[in-house]
Amino acid sequence: MNEIYAKLTKALECVRKQTDFVPKVAIVLGSGLGDYANDIKVECEIEYSSIEGFPVSTVPGHAGKYIFGYVGNVPVVCMKGRVHFYEGYPISDVVLPIRLMGLLGAKILFLTNASGGVNPSFNAGDFMLITDQIGCFAPNPLIGANIDELGPRFPDMSHIYDEDLRILIKEAASENGISLREGVYCQLTGPSFEAPAEVKMLGVFGADAVGMSTCVEAIAANHMGLKICGISCVCNLGAGLSPNPLTHDEVQAAANKAAPLFKKLVSESVIKFGNV
Ligand code: HPA
Repeated sequence: MNEIYAKLTKALECVRKQTDFVPKVAIVLGSGLGDYANDIKVECEIEYSSIEGFPVSTVPGHAGKYIFGYVGNVPVVCMKGRVHFYEGYPISDVVLPIRLMGLLGAKILFLTNASGGVNPSFNAGDFMLITDQIGCFAPNPLIGANIDELGPRFPDMSHIYDEDLRILIKEAASENGISLREGVYCQLTGPSFEAPAEVKMLGVFGADAVGMSTCVEAIAANHMGLKICGISCVCNLGAGLSPNPLTHDEVQAAANKAAPLFKKLVSESVIKFGNV
């Protein structure tokens, strides 16, 4: 059996020993975007460290867990803590948690992140519905022998971010008076922020926001046939667009400030996904 698939199957067994919960929506909340557990009627929590082969952060206190439960009547699994490529994991490990949620039964993947604005009309604090992505600056998680059990060798990527889900998110935003921008998200590897010339380049390439996650996860989920949607919280203007140097603290503070409204948008959207 393919080594990566074997690891995934083992991880699946570990989870299934602990719960038979079948989620419909898998949610990944970006760093700083809050402790979403409070918005979930929790049924079960599974520590990443209890799952064989799961990439667990070596930073103390950053272990993370899956939270299973309900948002409204919709069964969800939410990742508390995600895995970034810049932490040093192989790219197949970075997307293992996403693939695992797919194997647990999730049909929809809701990706969120914190980003820097590349589009000069964006402001810090804007929410951006992701319409498409530029992921080719990060390693492709499908490189290597194709895992036929998950999907095809050459998956189509014409419609990564599902149009029906996007309509529902826009409805949820307007019904709750939350303004929502739309645009293309670009993933770079990080962990350094961009140089101003790189932000300029990304703008020329058609990106509206830049961050260090999401695209590789969307590629892996798209490969498996999940419906995908995503919202980015634009926490700062990209390097060179504002006179101030970027700091992680600034990004974190902006994300924390946006978190309540952001979580509201996620929850109201997920409730609408109940009928999809
Ligand atoms: N660049 C990359 N990632 C980010 C940024 C940024 O400006 N802000 C938040 N995450």
